[in-house]
Amino acid sequence: MTDHDRLVSAEAGADGEERVIEAALRPKRLDEFIGQHRVREQLSLVLHSALRRGRPPDHVLLSGGPGLGKTTLAMIIAAELGKPLRVSSGPAIERAGDLAAVLSTLSEGEVLFLDEIHRMARPAEEMLYMAMEDFRVDVVVGKGPGATAIPLDIAPFTLVGATTRAGMLPGPLRDRFGFVAHMDFYEPAELEVIIRRSARLLDVRIEDEGAAEIAGRSRGTPRIANRLLRRVRDYAEVRADGVITRDLARAALTLYEVDERGLDRLDRAVLRSLLRKFGGGPVGLSTLAVSVGEEPETVEVVAEPFLVRQGLLARTPRGRIATPAAWRHMGLTPPPSAPMADTLFALEDDQGDDPE
Ligand SMILES: Nc1ncnc2c1ncn2[C@@H]1O[C@H](COP(=O)(O)OP(=O)(O)OP(=O)(O)O)[C@@H](O)[C@H]1O
Ligand SMILES: [Mg+2]
Repeated sequence: MTDHDRLVSAEAGADGEERVIEAALRPKRLDEFIGQHRVREQLSLVLHSALRRGRPPDHVLLSGGPGLGKTTLAMIIAAELGKPLRVSSGPAIERAGDLAAVLSTLSEGEVLFLDEIHRMARPAEEMLYMAMEDFRVDVVVGKGPGATAIPLDIAPFTLVGATTRAGMLPGPLRDRFGFVAHMDFYEPAELEVIIRRSARLLDVRIEDEGAAEIAGRSRGTPRIANRLLRRVRDYAEVRADGVITRDLARAALTLYEVDERGLDRLDRAVLRSLLRKFGGGPVGLSTLAVSVGEEPETVEVVAEPFLVRQGLLARTPRGRIATPAAWRHMGLTPPPSAPMADTLFALEDDQGDDPE
């Protein structure tokens, strides 16, 4: 099983259908963007002072997990500045020449959005440094000893970079952004507002308690909230009169196997096995994986990060252990011999194996 197959994946669906729906649900202006208060306020200052000076603002780096609103914010930045948006991405820029082609055709003040900027090729990266700083690039013509660098002026532009892996960005690149926005997971109350707004746009009738029920299961991520809303809507249309009440949301998400905290079948299988078969651990990753019939990598990469974030599972040097909250969440009573999470937490090893 891969992360993409899951209803609760934070990544966009691979079939492209989700992208179309998401485009329709994107807030267009900063004041429609929900949550991320600090980022919003800081960005508003950056943009308004640039508008007042009549100059392009500093380059902006948006850093945060999938589905938290980076692409949405990039589009909002261009809209607020009243400038066109050019979209490209790290993987699309394989050579410096690819980047030169983009940069040399930018219009004055244009916003260049480079998604997954941490995946850009090295030589292009160096060209980008100069472009960001001096609005100039050196285009190398020819090869070997006869090669010459032709300096080329480019229009002042604003770079908006997005990355899910800020740690993988080279220091010199990070330092050239005047403003770095760290996007956090959203509070349930914020997701509730997002869900109600999306329901309005999709013409879905939803009660406040229905929105709250979906919000609590959305893993702090707007993309997941919007996806769960659509699945619950399907259920409401087929099985009921179309109105999403709390009971209806609960019944639908029980059917789709997304529990109150947003755990799905795989997450629950891992926890159940850890608790029932191994008394809460510690147990090694591969043993745990075999017990649920999955590859170790699936358990480690797909299931564990969210369980760790939720404080339900801990990775220790002696193996995986369940926390007291895990026993409670699964409705089980920890045996008296269950490992004392407090003492094991002191040994917790979260270096290296966290994908962030
Ligand atoms: N603050 C927000 N308010 C309302 N809707 C939001 C907000 N943030 C994200 N969304 C919605 O969530 C969906 C995903 O957002 P977006 O595509 O911007 O995420 P992303 O961070 O670019 O993800 P990825 O890392 O996969 O590119 C969009 O449909 C968007 O409308
Ligand atoms: Mg994006």
